[in-house]
Amino acid sequence: MCSNYFFTLRRFFESYFFNMELIESAEELHLLSKQLRAAGKVIGFVPTMGALHQGHLALITQAGKTCDTVIVSIFVNPTQFNDPKDLERYPRTLEQDRALLASTPCELLFVPSVNEIYPEPDSRVFDFDPLDKVMEGQFRPGHFNGVAQVVSRLFEIVQPHKAFFGEKDFQQLAIIRSMRQQLNLDLEIVPVPIVRETDGLAMSSRNASLTGQQRKSAPLIADTLFKSCNFAASNSIDATRQFVVDRINSNADLEVEYFEVVDGLSLQPLVNWDESDYVVGCIAVFAGKIRLIDNVVYKIQNHEC
Ligand code: PAJ
Repeated sequence: MCSNYFFTLRRFFESYFFNMELIESAEELHLLSKQLRAAGKVIGFVPTMGALHQGHLALITQAGKTCDTVIVSIFVNPTQFNDPKDLERYPRTLEQDRALLASTPCELLFVPSVNEIYPEPDSRVFDFDPLDKVMEGQFRPGHFNGVAQVVSRLFEIVQPHKAFFGEKDFQQLAIIRSMRQQLNLDLEIVPVPIVRETDGLAMSSRNASLTGQQRKSAPLIADTLFKSCNFAASNSIDATRQFVVDRINSNADLEVEYFEVVDGLSLQPLVNWDESDYVVGCIAVFAGKIRLIDNVVYKIQNHEC
């Protein structure tokens, strides 16, 4: 009884000072969300793994513009990490994240434990063929199955009208859209453009783990993708791929894992530019142990980029 009282008091002060409520229980959030829906509120949801930066905040700002209540989750999902060391290394900065969220439209912050999300091990196997057979799916086996597990579970708890995802994780966005369709979920998936540092590097929670030297080298990734748009205007896909890989690999701090020029919907690699009217280049690059991803749109509905 006494501890309950202090818990309530703590929650009151926290929501007062941080301007948002922190919820750890899936059941409690589900109930709250149902009440909000019943009251006619449009719920916007931004799932994250924390270590928040301006890229995440752009999703939250966008959600705030079109929704009555914005719910953000911070959960480092173990099932989407195919490398246990990567999971261990993933930055966890909850207090900093809460301070950042204070100046955003986020009203409810969901920070569940692993047990809240997976009271029992999730054995579901999704089939995203062919979306998950290429790029991230090829180099991080099981990754997208884990993403689908956690996002579908979060959707089940939060019951959002709209969920916001960044175009930085281009393949993830396609997977989520496919999952929404497969599970016949009644919600809108809203894409948000990539937010970049002033030197072009795509913002990422992983950037903070780069050494000073790697951080100086990393903008070469975006710079090369942008330059490749000009190059692509008078060269083949093959030559463009070579241009991108060679230019980035010429920097001793960086090593390209893959660079693929794909159809923006099917994500299947293309051989000729005129094979599709939506063409995207997706890349993964290692800077030491840190893996960075980025992408560039070459063509969308016949407009060259
Ligand atoms: P996380 O990497 O934290 O990213 C959360 C959301 O922020 C994703 O939709 C991602 O695409 C978006 N985002 C990250 N950096 C961005 C940038 N520079 N510009 C625009 N959007 C950006 O993606 C995940 O977490 C997880 O896989 C998750 C979906 C939460 C499931 O665990």
